[in-house]
Amino acid sequence: MYNTRIVDESALNEVIEALQKGELVAVPTETVYGLAADITQEEALKNIFKVKGRPSDNPLIVHLASIEEVPKYVKSFPLLAKRLFERFSPGPLTLVLEKREGLSDLVSAGLPTIALRIPAHPLFSKLLKKGNLALAAPSANLSGFPSPTSAKHCYQDLQGKIPFILEGGSSEIGIESTVVRLNAPYLELLRPGHISSTDLENFLKQYVQEEQEVWSFKNLVTQKLKGDETPASPGMKYRHYAPKAEVSPYALETKEIVLEGLEDRLLAKNKKALHLVVVKPQELPEHLAQRLSQIQQGLQGKVELSLTYLDFPFSITEEKKIQIEGASKCLYAYLKKADDLGADMIVVPHFDKEDRQAEAYHNRLFKACGR
Ligand code: TXA
Ligand code: MG
Repeated sequence: MYNTRIVDESALNEVIEALQKGELVAVPTETVYGLAADITQEEALKNIFKVKGRPSDNPLIVHLASIEEVPKYVKSFPLLAKRLFERFSPGPLTLVLEKREGLSDLVSAGLPTIALRIPAHPLFSKLLKKGNLALAAPSANLSGFPSPTSAKHCYQDLQGKIPFILEGGSSEIGIESTVVRLNAPYLELLRPGHISSTDLENFLKQYVQEEQEVWSFKNLVTQKLKGDETPASPGMKYRHYAPKAEVSPYALETKEIVLEGLEDRLLAKNKKALHLVVVKPQELPEHLAQRLSQIQQGLQGKVELSLTYLDFPFSITEEKKIQIEGASKCLYAYLKKADDLGADMIVVPHFDKEDRQAEAYHNRLFKACGR
C-alpha cells in the first residue's frame, strides 16, 4: 500500500528516481493521463498489468522524448513513419512499427511490433528528457473504465497502488491518441483519435505523390471482423470506457426521435428513485427539452426522477470543430462524474454519425454505451 501523493513539477527529480527504481507513476499527457513504467524495468511492466487489471495480451504504448529516439526501438524506420512523426509529433499519434530485438515482451504482449508515441504535454516531455527515459504507459484507469483526464481521476482509480501522480492540469484533448500501423503497402488505422482518418488520408496522398512510394490507407476500425478473425489492435476487442451508469446517446442535430424507449429502460431498473444525468451544449436544444418533459410526464407517479444537467463547453451556434473538440475534452470526465453522482443513466449527445471529424468521439461514446 502506498500513500499516493499528487505532486507537481517541483517533485520531478523524485518522480524520475521512482521510475528508475521500478515504481509506477501516473503522468499527464495531452490526450489522457498515463500509468508509466520505465521500459527497462521488467517488474514495473508486470505491475502495470496487475495494477490496472489489464489483460496480458493487450500491448502498451512506449512514449519517447523525440524522433531521434525511435531507431532504438524499431527494426527499421521507414521513411513514411519518419514523415508521419515529423508531421504529427509531438502529439496524439501512435505508430505501430516492427520491434527491435532485445526489448521486453511485456511491452508488446508478445507481438513482433511496438507502438511508439512522442507526447506533446510539456511536463511529460520534460520528464522524458530530463530522466532520459522511455516510458510504457497505458491510460491510467482501471481496465474497462473511462480514461482519466485529470490527476484527481487518477487518484480515484489508483489511490494506494502507486507512489506518485504528476499533476499536469486537465488533458487538452481528452481522448486517447490515434493509433496507426505501417503494414506495407497499407497504412492501417487501429484506433481513431484527434488526428482523424481524413488528416491521415490527406497526408498519405501527398506523401505518395512526393516520394513515389505505393501506400494506401485502410481503416481497420470500421472494418467488421469475420468469424474467428482477431483484431489488429488487441485493445479493440475489449469493452471499454464504460462508467457504471447506463449511457444513452441522443442526436444533437436532427429532428429524429431522441432517447427512444428511455422510459422503459429506466423503469426496468426497478427502483423507486432514479437519477438521470443530461449532458448538453450550453443551451438546452428544443427537441431534447421536449423529449425530457415527455419522459418526466411518462414516469410521473411511477418513479421519482431527478435530473442533473452537465454542460459541454460549447454553444450549438459555434463551428462544428469547436463543438467536437469541446465534447471530446469533457466526455470521460462527465462519464466519471455521472458515477460520482450515483446516476442510474447518463444521456450524451452525438453529432452527425457520418462526420469524420467526430469519429474518435463517436467511437468512445458508442463503446461506452456497450455497442
Ligand atoms: O493517448 C494515448 O495513447 C494514451 C496516453 C497515455 O498516451 N495511452 C493509451 O494507452 O491510450 P492504452 O494502453 O490505453 O491503449 C493502447 C492501445 C491499445 O488499443 C493497444 O491494443 C494498442 O494501443 N497497441 C499497443 N501496441 C500495439 C501493437 N504492437 N500492435 C497493435 N496495437 C497496439
Ligand atoms: Mg486505455
